[in-house]
This record gives sequence, structure tokens and C-alpha cells, in this order.
Amino acid sequence: NTYALILAGGSGTRFWPLSRDSRPKQLLNLFGDNTLLNQTISRLEGLIPKENILILTNELQIDAVRQVASELPAENIFAEPAKRDTAPAVALGIGLVAARDPEATMVVLPADQLIQDVDSFQNVLKDAVTTAQNNHALLTIGIKPTWACPSFGYIERGQRFQGAESALENPPFEVIRFREKPNPQLAEQFIAQGNFAWNAGMFIWSIPTVIQELSEHTPELAKFIGELRNSSDINATVAAQFPSLTPISIDYALMEKASRVLNIEASFDWDDVGSWISVAKYLNEDEQANRTNTELIEVDSQNNIVFTKNKEKKIALLGVDDLIVVETDDSILIANKHQADDIKKIVSKLPPEL
Ligand code: GDD
Ligand code: MG
Repeated sequence: NTYALILAGGSGTRFWPLSRDSRPKQLLNLFGDNTLLNQTISRLEGLIPKENILILTNELQIDAVRQVASELPAENIFAEPAKRDTAPAVALGIGLVAARDPEATMVVLPADQLIQDVDSFQNVLKDAVTTAQNNHALLTIGIKPTWACPSFGYIERGQRFQGAESALENPPFEVIRFREKPNPQLAEQFIAQGNFAWNAGMFIWSIPTVIQELSEHTPELAKFIGELRNSSDINATVAAQFPSLTPISIDYALMEKASRVLNIEASFDWDDVGSWISVAKYLNEDEQANRTNTELIEVDSQNNIVFTKNKEKKIALLGVDDLIVVETDDSILIANKHQADDIKKIVSKLPPEL
């Protein structure tokens, strides 16, 4: 059986004031009426049955997640009792899947990415599932990098994989190393070297293989999974043990260390939409290169990004360039476009109710 584990418990600071701790990127309607979480679920249609799709989130977000994921069985949506980053979350997911099928193959998916070519996405996942099942490997998906972005993981690709799957149309590659979030200079080197891909944040493995790798490299998490498997009351075990697990991402905890990693190149479009700048690409553009989701009134104003939750409210710009203007029910952000990555500095100054 194949299961999907969707990680939907990240926090949202880059899209303030639209995003909040209770409403991060994957729960926003940035692109029309569908949230990224909703699209993540829909992309699995025909590939993985709904009863095999699990979502992990946290207490703050679970109500919103339940609403968006209402087509999944309610018992497939879990809230972690504390925020511990993705490695403990993935371990919990492995334990939950193993309780249903200890031999299952599992696809771990982030909830916060924009992917439009569903057919091609499904073909890549099918190949990754087959390769993972047949070769005791941890499969990653590689994105062709376009610049030395330091906020992604990098996969150094080796030779074509030599097993039976080398006959696939899009055959896997050996992975020389996995390097999470390199510093900017190192990222430049990787790009110059040429055989690096961005890590798409998706992982495909069989339960026995990933448990084996975890017991070698992250015994704390292997032990936690063991406790879940022996538990007669999983919720009680999670409540008692999860909050004291070491906070670390799966990329550092496992992927950088694992011995048997393979990579398949994504043949689909992929965007991590990490800031208002990247969202702007998907908004309407007016003659002055302003990007907006509303009817903007503009005089002598260029290259601005204007997003409003209340489209009936008029927004007018006069003689300003390169701004980000975001308007919600309770807040307004006016920022210099070149500081889009610093919005988190604003968030750290906000009163708790915002
Ligand atoms: N359940 C749960 N619990 N989900 C979490 C948690 C948590 O504590 N923390 C983060 N997530 C979710 C996020 O909502 C997102 O969907 C996914 O896990 C990945 O977490 P991010 O925090 O967004 O990771 P990242 O973007 O910095 O890096 C990862 O993704 C990149 C591609 O977008 C890494 O895998 C990188 O290597 C990769 O390049
Ligand atoms: Mg992310």
C-alpha cells in the first residue's frame, strides 16, 4: 500500500499580515479560491486513495486544516502537541503509517508548494515509489535550480542509477550528497559546479527502509517510532513523548546523513512561493508593471505589489514605486519591495493578538 503524509504545520511569517500563526502560507487563498494545502491533496487524486492520505499539523492550525481537508477521513488529520520541526513530525507520520501497514511505501509532501502540471507530478511520484520499493532507497525529487538560493536543500547528483529503473523514461540518479540550506557562497559553488538540484522537499521511501536509516542516524526518532508501534494508546504516547523530541528538520536529521539516497528529476513546474515577490508573478499586471489582485487606482506609480483581502475597498497609489501594500481586516503593511525577506522582523514586533 502507498500512503501520503502531508506536512502542514509550518508557521507563516513572510506573508504577514495575510498569514498568521494560525494561518500560514498553505492555508491562504493567494492564488484564486484554492489554498496550497487543498491543491496538495487534489494533486494525489487517482494516485493515492483518500483514506491513505494523512496530514500532520499543530493545535493552532488544525481547525483551518480540517475545513480545507474536509474530504479526508477525520481520523487522518493529527495535531502535534508541540512544535518540533519536520523530523519529529515525519517520525510521527512513519509511526502512524506503520500502525496501518508496516510494509507500506510512503510519500512525504510539503503543503506549501505551487505545482500545476498534475500528470507529470503523478508520473514522477509513481517512478519514485517503484524505485523506493525495489531498491531500499530514500528517494528525493530534484528541481533544476535557477539561482543560488540559500534557503533550499541541494542534491549533488552522481551517475545514472544502474538498477532496473534505469530503463524508466525519467531514470533515477545516484546522490553523492545532500546539503541542506548552504550559505550563499557555497550555494554559488554548487550552481557553478552544475550537477546540483534543489531538493523539492518531497521524500519517498518504504517503512522498513526509513526505519533502518533512522536507527543508524537518528536513534532518538527510531526509538520514538518503536514506542508508537508498541503503544496501545498512540495519542497518549504522542502527548507524553513528542514534546521532548529534539527540534530539527528531516533534511538535517536524516537526509544529509543517509547512506542510500537516489534522486529523480522533476519534469513538472515547481514554485516554493516563499515571499510576496514570488506571489507577484501570479497576480495581474497593469501597464505600469504593478502586480495586484484588485482594481488598482494608480498615478505615476510603478512596480508595486498590491494585495487586498477586501476587493471592494479601493486602493490608490500616487507617485510611489517598488512598494508592497497588503491590506487585511485588521492590518496594513506598506513595505519596500527590496526588503520582502525582512517581513519576519515586523512580525517579531507585533502584539501577540496579531
Ligand atoms: N506537521 C508539521 N510540523 N509540519 C511542519 C513543521 C512542523 O513542526 N514545520 C514545518 N512543517 C511543514 C511546512 O508547513 C511545509 O509544508 C513543510 O513542512 C516544509 O517545512 P518548511 O519549514 O517550509 O521547510 P523549508 O521550506 O525551509 O525547507 C524544506 O523545503 C525546501 C523546498 O521548499 C527542505 O526540505 C528543503 O531542503 C527544500 O529545498
Ligand atoms: Mg517551505
